[in-house]
Amino acid sequence: MVKICCIGAGYVGGPTMAVIALKCPKIEVVVVDIFEPRIIAWNSDQLPIYEPGLDDVVKQCRGKNLFFSKDVEKHVAEADIVFVSVNTPTKTQGLGAGKAADLTYWESAARMIADVSKSDKIVVEKSTVPVKTAEAIEKILTHNSKGINFQILSNPEFLAEGTAIQDLFNPDRVLIGGRETPEGQKAIQELKDVYAHWVPAERIICTNLWSAELSKLAANAFLAQRISSVNAMSALCEATGADVSEVSHAIGKDTRIGPKFLNASVGFGGSCFQKDILNLVYICECNGLSEVANYWKQVVQVNEYQKTRFVNRVVSSMFNTVSGKKIAILGFAFKKDTGDTRETPAIGVCQGLLGDKAILSIYDPQVPQELIQRDLSMHKSELDKPPHLRPVNSVAIEQVTCVGDAYEAAKGAHGICILTEWDEFKTLDYKKIYNNMNKPAFVFDGRNVVDIEKLRQIGFIVYSIGKPLDAWLKDMPAVA
Ligand code: NAI
Repeated sequence: MVKICCIGAGYVGGPTMAVIALKCPKIEVVVVDIFEPRIIAWNSDQLPIYEPGLDDVVKQCRGKNLFFSKDVEKHVAEADIVFVSVNTPTKTQGLGAGKAADLTYWESAARMIADVSKSDKIVVEKSTVPVKTAEAIEKILTHNSKGINFQILSNPEFLAEGTAIQDLFNPDRVLIGGRETPEGQKAIQELKDVYAHWVPAERIICTNLWSAELSKLAANAFLAQRISSVNAMSALCEATGADVSEVSHAIGKDTRIGPKFLNASVGFGGSCFQKDILNLVYICECNGLSEVANYWKQVVQVNEYQKTRFVNRVVSSMFNTVSGKKIAILGFAFKKDTGDTRETPAIGVCQGLLGDKAILSIYDPQVPQELIQRDLSMHKSELDKPPHLRPVNSVAIEQVTCVGDAYEAAKGAHGICILTEWDEFKTLDYKKIYNNMNKPAFVFDGRNVVDIEKLRQIGFIVYSIGKPLDAWLKDMPAVA
């Protein structure tokens, strides 16, 4: 029986391995992590991450050919194929700080693999890493190998949180990069055989290592660029009276552009987009390509601008101050159908409003209070560290309360900010909400989910990103 071990039981390692186990009943899959609470949760009824369909997949194979364990070294030693799916956050200090990927966790995983291995292994980069990481990892492994043969493959993950299971069941493509040697090609074939259990052959793309590593960064950069492009357009729409949804629809009909990923919003989030673009920027700079680096930097800058613009809209609409005013925050996760808050635009928006002394009442159907409090009190650089390395005792935020539903959040509020596109926010009883709010009552829709006309009829002053402005907003100072 082929044995797979995956180091890192996070948003990628957990779901990916669960699907491999489900689709390959003859392969034993063990997911290991040094963060014990996560392993305990994976072995319980309350999985550590929320992802539609995940519970079902885990229940079908856990204890049969899918296991979660904190016994990292034992399972790595026994495996034929070791996936490494650990955090690769942006470096916060030293060379490349603020841009380069921090490979500390990766390097320590590689050293451990070299230490404990007693048989040949295929080591698969699942984490998103800078181009040429495989070469560095190869050096660590071969210099410590005691005669053991390691083949390194790059197999970046393209799943999106919120649709992870669907994406894993039916991927647009699986990308496998390896050495162009007979041993490298053999390793590629072995991994291909795993995916071939459910992925059609034509969707499994094989490349050299560097193309696979760079393709992952490039894919995220292109996706984020699309969001920043439509968001930049949303500012122009507000200035001119155009409607960003109409513009998106019109340009998306062009088959060269296509309709996906053209929704204007308060900005992109998630653990990957920003980190991967910064990483790309750093690689460009290291290769003397400063113009190309500047091009990609713009994507991140527009994203920051969009959040600032949103906060400024809220504050300027409310007589230029939100000090002492209650504002309901609906949605904190970076997108619907996930409880993940890494790099969520809600952090920037809430911190901006708190900076102006607003009182926030936050509701998100999936994000627990402790996580919200931690995110709002922690410095940005701490947020993507593995859970066991995050400071435990963060400063409590006195101006923030977290509540159990949208109605409670909005009770007595002056304004509502919608920051995640959860479906339930489309069908709230806004009349009831309006009746329980201070007047004038505002809705700032950062995800374009509400029916603007309906809300205006109820009496709300509505701001929706990239949509023709309410007369009230037009009279307020310009926002830049
Ligand atoms: P995560 O933070 O959810 O999980 C990483 C896990 O690795 C943590 O539980 C941590 O405790 C564990 N870990 C760190 N060092 C370890 C070690 N030496 N031994 C054992 N366990 C260790 O991170 P996530 O979101 O799963 O991301 C992992 C990688 O996949 C990152 O490189 C990320 O960029 C990439 N990725 C993430 C996607 C996402 O949607 N979250 C999508 C595609 C790629």
